[in-house]
Amino acid sequence: MSECILRPMRPTDLPAVLEIQAQCYRGMLLESGAALASRLTLSPATCWAAARAGQNETLAAYLFTHMWPQDSLPPLDGILEPHWEQRDESGRTPAEPAAALTWFVHDMAVAPAGQGKGLAQGLYVAARAAALDAGLRSSRLIAVQSAAPWWRRLGYEKIASANDAFDAKLSAYGADAVLMGRALQPA
Ligand SMILES: CC(C)(COP(=O)(O)OP(=O)(O)OC[C@H]1O[C@@H](n2cnc3c(N)ncnc32)[C@H](O)[C@@H]1OP(=O)(O)O)[C@@H](O)C(=O)NCCC(=O)NCCS
Repeated sequence: MSECILRPMRPTDLPAVLEIQAQCYRGMLLESGAALASRLTLSPATCWAAARAGQNETLAAYLFTHMWPQDSLPPLDGILEPHWEQRDESGRTPAEPAAALTWFVHDMAVAPAGQGKGLAQGLYVAARAAALDAGLRSSRLIAVQSAAPWWRRLGYEKIASANDAFDAKLSAYGADAVLMGRALQPA
């Protein structure tokens, strides 16, 4: 396999993202192009892709991450908007958001041919740097398809669900979904 470059995701990557998603996830976890596009729109700096260079660049892996209030979980397959941003009378967004925000690592997937070559870890490190630059100091994710041990290697631990609303969102990810979190510190 030719070498991959890691770069921020582009809207034009979405058709290839959907193909990788179909190869990597079981039915109930499949999300629409619109739901994934809303995550990229929300946070283009923290969504990354691994692409095989060549005349026709092909996508090998992708990672969607974005900021999100700590006191809730984003809906699976939902369209996300920065609902926590409040505007003052003049329509400006205040420098400090109203809610505490965390770096939510939404979806990491590597096409089967590229797995086991460090692509996932490389995408994670690149997106984490952007999250740190944005001032985020904690991270959360929902591990699915038995991937919790993989996230544990990156320092994530299981955390307790905070309330019934968390439980309802988590159940959409399947009975084996695990809510995990860790602190983020600049190197
Ligand atoms: C999980 C996934 C993203 C890892 O991608 P990857 O590029 O193969 O990962 P890396 O190359 O960075 O790391 C490979 C290492 O992780 C280990 N690993 C892979 N999947 C694992 C899992 N589910 N649990 C524990 N370890 C896992 C490999 O055994 C390998 O270990 P080694 O370094 O000791 O040889 C990839 O397997 C994938 O896309 N799976 C399908 C989608 C999915 O379930 N995503 C996670 C959703 S939370």
